[in-house]
Amino acid sequence: MSRASIIFLLAVVVCSFVATYNAINMALGHMRATIGAHQDADWEANREGTFHGASETLGKKLQGTWKTSRKEGQGSGAVDAVIPRPKDKVQKGEKRLFHVAVTTNESPYNRWQCRIHYYWYKQMKDREGSEMGGFTRILHSGKPDHMMDEIPTFVVDPLPEGMDKGYVVLNRPWAFQQWLEQAEIEEEYILMAEPDHVFVRPMPNLAADFMPAAYPFFYIEPKKYETLLRRYYPKDKGPITNIDPIGNSPVIIKKTDLQQIAPTWKNVSIAFKNDEEVDKAFGWVLEMYAYAVASALHGVSHILRQDFMVQPPFSTELDGAYIIHYTYGCDYNMKGELTYGKIGEWRFDKRSFSGGAIPRNMPMPPKGVPETVVRLVEMVNEATANIPGWEEGQQR
Ligand SMILES: *[C@@H]1O[C@H](CO)[C@@H](O)[C@H](O)[C@H]1NC(C)=O
Repeated sequence: MSRASIIFLLAVVVCSFVATYNAINMALGHMRATIGAHQDADWEANREGTFHGASETLGKKLQGTWKTSRKEGQGSGAVDAVIPRPKDKVQKGEKRLFHVAVTTNESPYNRWQCRIHYYWYKQMKDREGSEMGGFTRILHSGKPDHMMDEIPTFVVDPLPEGMDKGYVVLNRPWAFQQWLEQAEIEEEYILMAEPDHVFVRPMPNLAADFMPAAYPFFYIEPKKYETLLRRYYPKDKGPITNIDPIGNSPVIIKKTDLQQIAPTWKNVSIAFKNDEEVDKAFGWVLEMYAYAVASALHGVSHILRQDFMVQPPFSTELDGAYIIHYTYGCDYNMKGELTYGKIGEWRFDKRSFSGGAIPRNMPMPPKGVPETVVRLVEMVNEATANIPGWEEGQQR
């Protein structure tokens, strides 16, 4: 068992003792490497490219840290306030449904990921324990595409030409803002998801009635960038630790909260992009910081759920996580050893299929490869085998 798993399990045990919805902030280490010039228009590939060639010690630099309480004495080291699940509703068996919303552009690369994402949403939605409600693909290209019949889709406008300065994700807050203003959304909660998320388990609503839930990213470090962030989150707003180490996804949040945050998030991301120093410092994770700052500006903090998702190959065990995020390339030799940073004899990397759909029946990894990676390939294969008309390299 990896150290990550042991620390995580310990945390789970401790937390179950105090019967909390815990807020574990497990920082995996400081892996932020220099961000190179971008190679293509895919922001995600670039965001993730941040980690390519980064130190191989990532998995080794594990450290578990408790998120310190904000509300009850700063820096006391206390565990976040106990966040009980609203008992009355659970007892009544009333579900707190959340709407799954995934923002995307019209590229074939995002499209094949969306199809797999939606397939697994459908598989998990009606299973025991799920509080998953409706689904929307928010397409921010301004026009319908060929997937409209296959996936429930809401078309919104992109930002005005040139405003994103080539950083496609800047469209995301604007896309959410338009969708929230124009669409009729039945559910009270929203899950902001991404195309490369695969639901491994039926997902309950991880948010509390009064607090959204987010996944803590080890590479979002507000404290480290305090000087820059203070330009947008002035001292009178409170300590810099009010800015959560998160991005907008995955997050489960009340619709009414997101309606408040989205316009600020849009403004903050554009302001960040136009601030040369901030742009340079944050690079491809700029927009994640923008959400973190915008939500803090609205006084909204998040329950940090490490079990929200796993990110192979760094997360080796599923540990009860709900989502597999296949953001990193998985490279292994035939002995099942991670060859991170070097192309493996066996590899699974979504970026190998940036021009069109991934083929069906991808080869399974060699023996010894962690369960997160094995499960991911199984799930991708199952989806592509069952989605009608799946074609390798498909553009539409
Ligand atoms: C966002 O910026 C625009 C243009 O500067 C401004 O009109 C608007 O009030 C701002 N909205 C928020 C929520 O900050």
